[in-house]
Parts: sequence; C-alpha cells; structure tokens
Amino acid sequence: MPPRVAAHRVFLQEFFRTFHTTGAVLPSSRFLGAALARFVRERDADRPLRILEVGPGTGAVTQQIVKSMKSGDALDLAEINPTFVQVLQRRFASEPEFQAIAGQTRVFCGPVEDLESGEPYDVLISGLPLNNFSVDEVERILETFRRLARPGGTLSFFEYIAVRAAKSVISPRRSERERLKGVGRTLDEFLAGAERQAVWRNIPPAWVHHVRLGDIIAKPQA
Ligand SMILES: C[S@@+](CC[C@H](N)C(=O)[O-])C[C@H]1O[C@@H](n2cnc3c(N)ncnc32)[C@H](O)[C@@H]1O
Repeated sequence: MPPRVAAHRVFLQEFFRTFHTTGAVLPSSRFLGAALARFVRERDADRPLRILEVGPGTGAVTQQIVKSMKSGDALDLAEINPTFVQVLQRRFASEPEFQAIAGQTRVFCGPVEDLESGEPYDVLISGLPLNNFSVDEVERILETFRRLARPGGTLSFFEYIAVRAAKSVISPRRSERERLKGVGRTLDEFLAGAERQAVWRNIPPAWVHHVRLGDIIAKPQA
C-alpha cells in the first residue's frame, strides 16, 4: 500500500478510536501544511531555528516543515497518540526528506502540556483540534505555548472555517453550544488583531492563525 494511503487509513482509524484528540477525518493538505510552515521558510534572521510541532499526527505538516529546514535547525515533535508516533518514526527512518533531518529531530510521545521548558522555541506550529477541547484545556494549551516560546516567537495554528460558529448554533446539546461559545471567546481574546490566512485547498477549508507570542503580527496595510 502506498505510504500516503496507509497514513490516511491510520488517520481515519484514529479519528474513530480517539475522536477527542484527533479531531479530523483526514490529514492536512500540503497547502495547509505549507501555510502552517510559513515561519520556517520566512526567517527573521540567518541563525538556526528551534521549531516545535505540536500534534503532528501522521506527519502531513511535518513534511512541509522538513522541506524548509536548514542545517543547524532543531525540530521537536510533541504527539499524544502512540500510534501516530509509530507512523512518524517509520517516516523518519524510511523517507528521504525525513531521513535528511532525522538527526536534528526529537519526538516526544505525550501531551504538549507535559513538555518541560528547556531552550525556548522560535517557531511553534500546532495541529491541535482546540475546538474539541474544554475551555480549561484550551486555556492550559495556550499558556503552554506562551511558556515554551521565546519572546517574539511565532505560533501558527489552524481551525476549519465556519465549523465552530455553525456547531455553536446547531449542536443539539446546550452544554456543547456553551462549550463552543466559551472556546470561541478564549480564542478571540488570544487572537485579537492576529493575522488570519484562508486555505481553501484543504478538506474542509481552514483558517491559519499566525500569532507572535508576546506581540501580534500586524496585517500588512492594503
Ligand atoms: C487534527 S490532528 C492534526 C494532525 C496533523 N498535524 C495534520 O494536520 O494532519 C490533531 C493531532 O493532535 C494530537 N494531539 C491532540 N492533543 C494533543 C496534546 N495535548 N499534545 C500533543 N498532541 C496532541 C492528536 O493525536 C493528533 O495527532
């Protein structure tokens, strides 16, 4: 079975088995991956980057990150699901693009909240399905991102366009509608003034949010 098909199969299986943490039926498209990897490509300085990808799943976004890595960069991956960790380890052992930077990469199997603060990260990229989590979980995760980033470091993450807004109106359970509205308020506060990029070539289409932690990336003037 071609590796891409095998990865899709594992993803779908984990969607049914661990819906709360997986939160998507399909891995991200290469267009969404490229948008999320923007700050690995567009560097502020020539110095090596410390990159953290949170929730890499089967490596769809990781693949776009590794294409833009340079020698001296370091990539850490934090993935809660051991089945996805096995897929990632196979990719780093067997696929040339992944093999090329395997020596610069570490994979942590566990929740990102448990990652210890070491040397701070310049670039954080998250695939976490925040809209599946409670308000408390979302707040804890956003706090974790702040703790792990260097001042002025970037965070890029995505959410599917219109899904939260639609579900917070049509969901049959009131508690679910309230949860989603609470997550929306927490994210709106966190993202006030941040840059938002639409990626239509993904199923479903997604917003990518780019935030400079401790600061906001201003939208270019039209
Ligand atoms: C929507 S999937 C995204 C997968 C991949 N980045 C992509 O875009 O195709 C969410 C991923 O986050 C992982 N995850 C969920 N909660 C996590 C946590 N607290 N810490 C680390 N990984 C987590 C899931 O296991 C899953 O791999």
